Amino acid sequence: MSKQAMTELKQIMNEVSLIGSTAALLGWDERVNMPRNGSAHRANQLAYMAGLLHEKFTANRVGELLKMAEDSPVSKDPLAPDAVNVRELRRVYDKRTKVPNQLVQAIAHAETTGQSVWVKARRDNDFKSFFPHLEKMIELKRQYAEAIGYKDVAYDALIDDYEPGATAKSITVVFSEFRKELVDFVAKIRNAPKKPDVSIVEREFSIDRQRIFGETVAAAIGFPFSEGRLDITAHPFCSGIGPGDCRITTRYNPKHLGQALFGTMHEAGHALYELGLPREHFGTPMGEAVSLGIHESQSRMWENMVGRSKPFWKFFFPLAQQTFYDALGDVKFEDFYFAINDVQASFIRVEADEVTYNLHILLRFEIEQGIFDGSIKPKDLPAVWNEKFTKYFGITPKSDSQGCLQDIHWAAGLFGYFPTYALGNLYAAQFFAKAKKDIPDLDEQFAAGKYSALLDWLRKNIHSQGQRYHAEDLVKVVTGKKLDHKPLMGYLEKKFKPLYGVK
Ligand code: CO
Repeated sequence: MSKQAMTELKQIMNEVSLIGSTAALLGWDERVNMPRNGSAHRANQLAYMAGLLHEKFTANRVGELLKMAEDSPVSKDPLAPDAVNVRELRRVYDKRTKVPNQLVQAIAHAETTGQSVWVKARRDNDFKSFFPHLEKMIELKRQYAEAIGYKDVAYDALIDDYEPGATAKSITVVFSEFRKELVDFVAKIRNAPKKPDVSIVEREFSIDRQRIFGETVAAAIGFPFSEGRLDITAHPFCSGIGPGDCRITTRYNPKHLGQALFGTMHEAGHALYELGLPREHFGTPMGEAVSLGIHESQSRMWENMVGRSKPFWKFFFPLAQQTFYDALGDVKFEDFYFAINDVQASFIRVEADEVTYNLHILLRFEIEQGIFDGSIKPKDLPAVWNEKFTKYFGITPKSDSQGCLQDIHWAAGLFGYFPTYALGNLYAAQFFAKAKKDIPDLDEQFAAGKYSALLDWLRKNIHSQGQRYHAEDLVKVVTGKKLDHKPLMGYLEKKFKPLYGVK
């Protein structure tokens, strides 16, 4: 009986996943290929698919099958694929069936209007016009959290959508220590005696050559062009369509070498994860990524810990000099390496470097926490933002457009999403430290243009696990320790202290 229930459950989930991956392909096409006037029809197609998917996933039959599977021997060994599938499907099924339809629709509506108001508010530096939408969205998200339920605070229910198992408390434990050390470190670098000459990477870099160079690097780190594409969009992204098909995008700036290149490596890191998920489990949680934080750990590792490392450029700098002879022919290796590792306190998160990026996130996390525990009133957001920003970065935003209005997330209702970015960096550093221990000559391999040992390690330890573990446990299983800020802090200090000449 239980075996039959499991088979039927998987059949339904396979259909759900086929609908989801078809929608993903439509979404990719919308951003990469679709003619402008197709957008209204595409919105109808996507809304229809979303409705179909929701209907199939939340059917009463799914609830019955889950119950049967839970009462059967299937769930006995909690780490066996079927038990994992039942556990994760239950988690998502409960969430999607607990929230009243009316609230789902109200949130969807608020997201659409909120985003269009936000676009204008950011442009015009007009927090006042955005404020009522923000307040409404917070209220709706509070209702959403209440409908789902939570252990400790309402914010936990929101975090759980992006980082299953994580809570405001579990994140605070890691972030608060990290913040203390990071604020000091950023101040030291701000006052450092040495500064890079960033003009080196802001010369003319022809887009044609950047494209060839970027594809060469992506292929070298293992992005298979037989299973993926690299296209151009205004906002780079990665979209996993299904087994053997994952697409990434980038954008080229003819006046900057790093933007497209590191963006490509970032998205390729996401793609390697998607393509490394166990294909035999497609359509079930065992074939899916753990969380946004773990996903981001993969992209950040390839972008920063590999792509901005010295060994990596030992191999690729001569090729870069050949490819961009006019721009880099006269540049010394050390100067180039310093320039691609420029650290500067700046106002805009998406333009931030490897070090200060984390502070941008810690600030947003504290504000989100305050909003949902009531200690920060939405109307005080600009003042709170600027005060915290000044304390952490030593500089004060001159406008809300440069401050609390800069990100789309809150307008889109994505509360609880931000912490996953910094968690990604923390996971990445802890995984990378362990990979280096397991593969002692990793630096030498990078310097020889070889990246397969690291990819194999990630495949074995992380990608192939699907959703067997929540992020918190995965880190423990892979590294032997729970998540800690020390590996990331240690990595940053070891890399940036000598560069900037700080102690
Ligand atoms: Co990413």
